[in-house]
Amino acid sequence: MNTDKRVKKERKHWDKLAPRYDRYIEKHWKIYPSLLDKIAEDIETGSTVLDVATGTGSVALRVAQRASRIHAIDISGPVIEEAKKKVDEKGIKNIEFSVEDAYSLPFNDGMFDIVVCENALHNMIEPAKALSEIRRVLKPGGRLIATVAGIGESRRFRFMMTIFKFFTAFPVFHKLNLGELASMIAKSGLATMKKDIMKHPKDVFPVIYIVAERSNSELNT
Ligand SMILES: C[S@@+](CC[C@H](N)C(=O)[O-])C[C@H]1O[C@@H](n2cnc3c(N)ncnc32)[C@H](O)[C@@H]1O
Repeated sequence: MNTDKRVKKERKHWDKLAPRYDRYIEKHWKIYPSLLDKIAEDIETGSTVLDVATGTGSVALRVAQRASRIHAIDISGPVIEEAKKKVDEKGIKNIEFSVEDAYSLPFNDGMFDIVVCENALHNMIEPAKALSEIRRVLKPGGRLIATVAGIGESRRFRFMMTIFKFFTAFPVFHKLNLGELASMIAKSGLATMKKDIMKHPKDVFPVIYIVAERSNSELNT
């Protein structure tokens, strides 16, 4: 698939949902407050953070006090506009937002202590390309915190998503389980340090949570 077609497919839904995105999360992902707390706990104070596929900026806003500096990117312009409004309202100064493609990040090698990619790799057509870029921009010893909807964790979840996609054209391109996400991350050259599956009783799908490290002994290999 050529890049223009792929980008169009990846951003279309989120462009439209942008003004209603936060309400959608509140309604369908009751796990978010505890998920964001867990992400914040895995970020050391003073870290430089990249939030890949930030959406309306939930991770960036939650960890702003902990991080020294945050770049937050998304392929959808309208969601970035929503995120900027919230940051301006709160007067937060250490977050910079821009519209970028996770498959080609405009950052130098080894720039970040932490990259977070919350609930988005399954919404990318070729997540391996994003993971390769994420590894490149991480410092040696730096960490990726990746979460995805665990649709591949059971046949029931897979079936429900197939039906949901049929009626809504919801852009889920991968129905991942923990093993599949861990293996994708390992292929990108990052070593899994922590893994977990979280589920709020009111949510339909669980969330897979992985922290993975770029080896300390390598430099851009
Ligand atoms: C389910 S939303 C998650 C947003 C946010 N991380 C959160 O947890 O609320 C998925 C996001 O992935 C973004 N996305 C999809 N493909 C992308 C790509 N190639 N580069 C950057 N962002 C992408 C979409 O625009 C959308 O905002």
